[in-house]
Amino acid sequence: MEIPFAEAWKIKMIEPIKKSTREQREQWLKEAHYNVFQLKAEQVYIDLLTDSGTGAMSQEQWSQMMLGDESYAGATSFYKFESTIKRIFGFDYVIPTHQGRAAENVLFSYLVKEGNVIPGNAHFDTTKGHIESRKAFAIDVTIPEANDTQLELPFKGNVSIELLTKVLEENKGNVPFMVLTITNNTKGGQPVSMQNIKETCALCHKYNVPVVVDSARFAENAYFIKTREEGYQNKTIKEIVREMYAQADAATMSCKKDAIVNMGGFIAMRNKEWFEGCKLFCIPFEGYITYGGLNGRDLNAIAQGLEENTEFDMLETRIKQVEYLAHKLDEYGIPYQRPAGGHAIFVDADRVLDQIPKEEFPGQTLTCELYLEAGIRACEIGYMLADRDPITRENRFNGLDLLRLCIPRRVYTNNHMDVIAAALKNVYDRRHEIKRGVEIVWEAPLMRHFTVQLRKL
Ligand code: F0G
Repeated sequence: MEIPFAEAWKIKMIEPIKKSTREQREQWLKEAHYNVFQLKAEQVYIDLLTDSGTGAMSQEQWSQMMLGDESYAGATSFYKFESTIKRIFGFDYVIPTHQGRAAENVLFSYLVKEGNVIPGNAHFDTTKGHIESRKAFAIDVTIPEANDTQLELPFKGNVSIELLTKVLEENKGNVPFMVLTITNNTKGGQPVSMQNIKETCALCHKYNVPVVVDSARFAENAYFIKTREEGYQNKTIKEIVREMYAQADAATMSCKKDAIVNMGGFIAMRNKEWFEGCKLFCIPFEGYITYGGLNGRDLNAIAQGLEENTEFDMLETRIKQVEYLAHKLDEYGIPYQRPAGGHAIFVDADRVLDQIPKEEFPGQTLTCELYLEAGIRACEIGYMLADRDPITRENRFNGLDLLRLCIPRRVYTNNHMDVIAAALKNVYDRRHEIKRGVEIVWEAPLMRHFTVQLRKL
């Protein structure tokens, strides 16, 4: 008999979670204005809001926390962090920041000017926010096939070389860099192939445009290259990562994902001029360049996290759990972005609640229904998150409307996955009874989904 697959770790410390009643959840959700970001964490049973900063650190990471050097400048922790990043990614210069969006803020403060055009394979919302708040334009150049949730492609996060060429050709001299996001979070945690990474870099360089890799889930991307792309089966994750970055010019990283820490980020680059430019923004925004908003202990934990999460077993455990949940949804016939992504399942809310018009936000409605059903907090990655067009101020209804079930690393067991799938099935079975969605009562001008206040129709 073939011995089944099991986790590459065992549990040493637990954190209790609490169930609630439907009546309680109805009250809490109303108080939260039908926005799950406004719920208290203790009102949540299983929290799938994000995989960002919510992972469980290893015993090695916790022991590194005790060894943190908290010197203001030049701490040993910084040098450990810097040398690990240089070795894993192959960059020459490293600046720590307190999280991913802080890395974007520092780098973009230096590089982005009003009117610039920055193409990318579906910029994450903070990335888009940092571009649009500087009156520049973020243009999505993901392959159009990524918008068909039912199409099975191994690298559905890829850049469309055709679309990218068009943007580069039409905006010569006005593109300070391109953002390559691996994995492509917005399109469903979908990976980008090695071939596509290389073609994207070569094309950008032909136009003298540098490539900045948004690296939040770079290790998961490397896992997919190893398991899905011809020629990589026998390479280690670390070898694949080096190859992924060999032609890139810089990286921004949210360490809260694939470095499995609660807080942290960095910018890494090859160009000394960029390094000097970034330093000027790091110091006032983040702090001195050897700590960048982080404690010495955080720098140590990141170095250890990067080391261990670029090992195959750790990634296999993670991605197999996401697949496990996907198989359950297959059993129940619930449509999601296929194939399953690296960090999450993205349920196709438009298809589930197909009687609810776009103007009533099906994804947001499904998010509320899942919470009411079982206290599970997922998150809308759809029309609410898409914000309004900066010029016309119209809602952007042209993308996907998804409910993201985002799985924290090393936190929940497959029993929790069973609970999530069963709760979603219950909502799915009564989907035709859900006839109305939600309406916006108040919204912020940018990144509205965090604070938006809604009314149930
Ligand atoms: N880039 C990507 C691809 C991300 O997914 C995120 C964060 C960031 C940048 C920003 O990093 O949060 O450390 O400032 N994504 C989280 C999510 C919040 O839930 O997907 P950050």
